[in-house]
Amino acid sequence: MPAPSILLLGASGYLGVPLLAEFLTHRSKFSRLAILTDESRKHKFEDAKAKGVELIIGSYLEPDSFKGFNTVLSLLGNHAMADQPSIIKACLAAKVTEFYPSEFGGDSSQGPYVTNRYFDEKNKTRAFLAETVAKNPDSGFNYTLIMCGGFMEYVMNPIFGGDEESETFTFYGSGEKREPFTSVADVCRYTVASTLMPKSPSGARSFKIPEAWYTWSEVISTISRASGVEYKPIFLPNEEAVEKAKQFKESGDADGELTFSLKALIGSLGFEAVPEPWDNDKFPEIVPVNLETALKQYFAKSKPEV
Ligand SMILES: NC(=O)c1ccc[n+]([C@@H]2O[C@H](COP(=O)([O-])OP(=O)(O)OC[C@H]3O[C@@H](n4cnc5c(N)ncnc54)[C@H](OP(=O)(O)O)[C@@H]3O)[C@@H](O)[C@H]2O)c1
Repeated sequence: MPAPSILLLGASGYLGVPLLAEFLTHRSKFSRLAILTDESRKHKFEDAKAKGVELIIGSYLEPDSFKGFNTVLSLLGNHAMADQPSIIKACLAAKVTEFYPSEFGGDSSQGPYVTNRYFDEKNKTRAFLAETVAKNPDSGFNYTLIMCGGFMEYVMNPIFGGDEESETFTFYGSGEKREPFTSVADVCRYTVASTLMPKSPSGARSFKIPEAWYTWSEVISTISRASGVEYKPIFLPNEEAVEKAKQFKESGDADGELTFSLKALIGSLGFEAVPEPWDNDKFPEIVPVNLETALKQYFAKSKPEV
């Protein structure tokens, strides 16, 4: 397999920054490593440029922006994700052969994930990718889905329920519900390693790579151990999250609607975010960290220096 040429979209985001760092660690395995950005955002990448990362300035809707790259990873956030079908069209026209959509979470092809508002754009993108592969069998176009469950460090984000100021954790469901998690650094390791693996003959690959399952009660007790602070668990009825999502929708608050749609989903019983079997054994060189280790690192970094 020739050395992949890599182009990243959304490289300044929460996931984009550590993923770029992981690509840089393995720089010699890639023929090119570049970020696609536009005039208004290019100032964010001075540091990356100094480290030898190419900056391509252009629109992600134009095939010219992708020419000369075989592998494109989208790390776009919730709003720009709606552009992914148009981005995929541009990639196909530019002869890109591997596209990673902005996934990096649950398996949205199952149960209530299929219709949950939070996964709307991800599911539209999945459907568009499948259609693109089916309609263009001779194009060499492939795509890869990375499913890692929650990012371990993200349990401290209000979207999952952590509140460092009030030292509470709020969950809309039972503490016995379990969720798969992976640390962000490990998500980046698996993603970079996957770009060097053979393509699937079907045109579509997916890698399910969570580190482990944790119940939400375990999550909260692990936060307390890792932070050295006793976090107070607050368990609320799942229906309250469903109702709040509805209210945010009615008031036109898309971010509120997305947040509470996700809270309602992860607190509901019946379906789990990344059903097994998982694919970790395809990456024998990666030894992922557990939740406690990832959270200890998170709290060590977020403590002010004295
Ligand atoms: N499993 C989990 O727990 C978890 C947690 C977090 C994220 N994720 C997933 O990870 C993926 C990335 O999310 P994230 O949190 O890293 O997102 P993020 O921090 O919001 O970053 C999004 C990136 O997209 C760029 N962007 C946004 N609009 C753009 C536009 N119109 N044109 C060009 N660039 C644009 C942003 O650049 P600007 O800042 O310059 O606009 C930024 O670099 C998503 O699929 C998300 O669902 C999963």
